Amino acid sequence: MTARRGVSSPAMERWQTIIEPFRIHSVEPIRITTRDERALAIEEAGYNLFNLHADDVLVDLLTDSGTGAMSRDQWAAIQHGDESYAGSPSWYAFLDAVHELFPFRHVIPTHQGRAAEKILFSVIGGPGMTIPNNTHFDTTRANVEFTGAAAVDLVIEEGRHPEVEHPFKGNMDLPRLDALLAELGPTNVPAVFVTITNNSGGGQPVSLENLRGVREICTRHGVPLFLDGCRFAENAWFIKTREPGQAGRSVTEIVREIGALADGMTMSAKKDGMANIGGWLAVNDDRLAEQCRNLLILTEGFPTYGGLAGRDLEAIAQGLREVVSEDYLRYRITSTAYLGDALGRAGVPTVRPIGGHAVYLDARALLPHVPPLQYPGQALAVALYLEGGIRGCEIGTVMFGRHPDGTESPAAMDLVRLAIPRRTYTQSHVDYCIEVVRWVAERAADLRGYRIVDEPPALRHFTARFAPLA
Ligand SMILES: Cc1ncc(COP(=O)(O)O)c(C=O)c1O
Repeated sequence: MTARRGVSSPAMERWQTIIEPFRIHSVEPIRITTRDERALAIEEAGYNLFNLHADDVLVDLLTDSGTGAMSRDQWAAIQHGDESYAGSPSWYAFLDAVHELFPFRHVIPTHQGRAAEKILFSVIGGPGMTIPNNTHFDTTRANVEFTGAAAVDLVIEEGRHPEVEHPFKGNMDLPRLDALLAELGPTNVPAVFVTITNNSGGGQPVSLENLRGVREICTRHGVPLFLDGCRFAENAWFIKTREPGQAGRSVTEIVREIGALADGMTMSAKKDGMANIGGWLAVNDDRLAEQCRNLLILTEGFPTYGGLAGRDLEAIAQGLREVVSEDYLRYRITSTAYLGDALGRAGVPTVRPIGGHAVYLDARALLPHVPPLQYPGQALAVALYLEGGIRGCEIGTVMFGRHPDGTESPAAMDLVRLAIPRRTYTQSHVDYCIEVVRWVAERAADLRGYRIVDEPPALRHFTARFAPLA
């Protein structure tokens, strides 16, 4: 095994072409559509990409969550799924696989990441509490705020500027964290979170050195440290390849060190669990675990299956073994950068450096003639669909611009995220995306903004309907 790895890695380094480290064994057809068909589909969808029928999409980059392809060995593991209500062997397979990487004392399976968040924040949150994070993901923020607690983002300054290069742009601002904990104290801060990689900040990694710094501050103030671990393997790969002194360590070793620095974690297995559904909450504290399990039984299910079928637990267990493969991670991170770097060379503005799971196009920079309240991100996302059938996701003023008091203001950035599902598209799909994005970018001056004709009171990006401006 070692000898075969030794041959494959230099080969990848010497040649430029990215080889997917898998062969395709089962295929899903993509329905090839014409521009006219897409024009009709997007009009019927109220110019909202979430409203499209997925059969009308050629390359679906809406999200990397739960959209990846499972391996032969995951499908085989599914056949071992045991649906016993309590004590299923599939639960023990899942527990062993999680413990292999994250040996927390208590592991609580949930149907996805936000269920773990909901349970944890219901126990530790509440009015008067504050939860710091490098950047809260939207469901994390929503679950914190739902309890009446405050969600505070403390990413380093570099992480707030799309064009700034920094190897670990997801790092926590340590002096600000220290000051916040000194001001509020452990009674008002029930946990510090670190999201790896920092999805809402462009899929940017957090360094081991920064995590050790967060640990030291948390220990000094007596506050537990939690990971939002969705993309832990991608983060570990960035540590291995970018952080001084880490190149000689295995990804598994790095992941274990990351886990050992924390007191618990929430996880969506739809990302680096390589599964289509699933998640978990893990904690070391016995009393906290008991309170969380009581809620789990109310909302998810018995503690040995949570919100999952036995077969899902098996798929995750196998996925966790595969995600730390260095051949896989090299391909994953290189192929995401391949898309972003090609667009950068073509003059398309993107968040830099390219993150682990997605490329973020800077629509505000590309469409300076479309004011933020005419939604440049939406205009760009719709154009990519119309011209090439590519579905991305607006992350900007549509998503964040409407406030609970009914006012509207521009978001900090207007981005279009092209998220790459795991092991799903080939390099020629990516080359196609590069061609389409370049074509649209060269004609960006012709794109017009949108107005919203109908929107719900909250989370409007999912269901709002738009009309193009003349
Ligand atoms: C960083 C981060 N945290 C939490 C979640 C929530 O996970 P789920 O979609 O499984 O509820 C996501 C999902 O995209 C995420 O990216």
